[in-house]
Amino acid sequence: MTSEITTPVELKKMDPVFGQLSFDNHEQIVFCHDKDTGLKAIIGIHNTVMGPALGGTRMWNYANEWEALNDVLRLSRGMTFKSAITGLNLGGGKAVIIGDSKADKTPEMITRFGEFVNSLSGKYITAEDVGTTTEDMDRIHKVTNHVTGISESIGGSGNPSPVTAYGVYMGMKAAAKYQFGSDNLEGKKVLVQGTGHVGETLISYLRTEGAEVLVSDIHQDKMENMVAKYGAKIFTGADLYAADVDIYSPCALGATINDETVNKIKAKVIAGAANNQLAVEAVHGQILRERGIAYAPDFLINAGGIINVYGEIVKYGKDQAMKMTENIYNTTLEIFNFAEVNNMTTQQAAMQIAQNRIDQRKKENAAK
Ligand SMILES: NC(=O)c1ccc[n+]([C@@H]2O[C@H](COP(=O)([O-])OP(=O)(O)OC[C@H]3O[C@@H](n4cnc5c(N)ncnc54)[C@H](O)[C@@H]3O)[C@@H](O)[C@H]2O)c1
Repeated sequence: MTSEITTPVELKKMDPVFGQLSFDNHEQIVFCHDKDTGLKAIIGIHNTVMGPALGGTRMWNYANEWEALNDVLRLSRGMTFKSAITGLNLGGGKAVIIGDSKADKTPEMITRFGEFVNSLSGKYITAEDVGTTTEDMDRIHKVTNHVTGISESIGGSGNPSPVTAYGVYMGMKAAAKYQFGSDNLEGKKVLVQGTGHVGETLISYLRTEGAEVLVSDIHQDKMENMVAKYGAKIFTGADLYAADVDIYSPCALGATINDETVNKIKAKVIAGAANNQLAVEAVHGQILRERGIAYAPDFLINAGGIINVYGEIVKYGKDQAMKMTENIYNTTLEIFNFAEVNNMTTQQAAMQIAQNRIDQRKKENAAK
């Protein structure tokens, strides 16, 4: 018997789906397989109380299926809270395709994936994410309407990154207002980690306002480009996390605020685009709070992208998307104040407000 050869803790680790820590009350998880195209995908539908579960499809060369499952669960849960805090009538979902997007992806595989999305009749709506492109979404659009992020030429909303960057900029200004008493970033020293699609537009806003921008990226040419185009400076110190800056903006990877970094951070504000910046939400959010560092929750300030694609569903254009994204400034300030009044971290405050909205909607739906 299994119970004789392992401890209850070990047994729990073996539970493939419902016992996973990241399962967190998902409504539905769909495993998709197609032998002919080699497609192996998982669609996570976390919550549809507020509306259909919208979230991108990530194609990644996961080390194993556990990693893929854990990733899709974590990401789809995050989408539930992102849409709820932003006030969109959307639930949370996400999909992952297991494989190397450069070596393994074929048009046939993507089409087959689109057919699986279609089979869910709109309960899940997909979009692009790491490893998938607008072209992939256009292909999926040929077999289902339940896709966003398609090309502008066929009625889509185009590249979401500039809108995401605008939201991050708004969230950063609000965090500065809370922390420094003014949202004017002129002369502030900002370290932007990751100079990709979002990072670059953010840097352009910051430089236009007169902030001093330091950049860090794993690609030297990208950093040099930021120097040439915007007058940024390349960060050359030994330890990025101990950098003497006013604002740290993670725009590359998640979990950069972790056991190793959290006590070194000198910045007084953290505001960036990367998803899941806190390695362990409760632990590292609390340490930041105790250290007096104003942390703008990532899922709140990087919502410009989803605001942009939501326009494809409810039919609004870029101007409206930018207006709604600008409101991230107000929401961020509200979250800082709510957290202070209620003695909690900003992450907890944002999660609580989002959860309250979901609970309220659930009651309204039940009363119908
Ligand atoms: N694009 C969007 O609309 C959007 C929306 C929400 C969240 N996000 C998140 O924001 C982040 C940035 O998105 P993006 O679209 O700009 O991605 P991107 O791939 O265009 O840019 C990421 C950049 O980070 C750099 N990078 C990777 N590892 C690094 C490291 N260890 N140190 C420094 N730099 C490193 C890469 O070289 C690249 O330049 C991602 O975490 C993404 O999930 C993006």
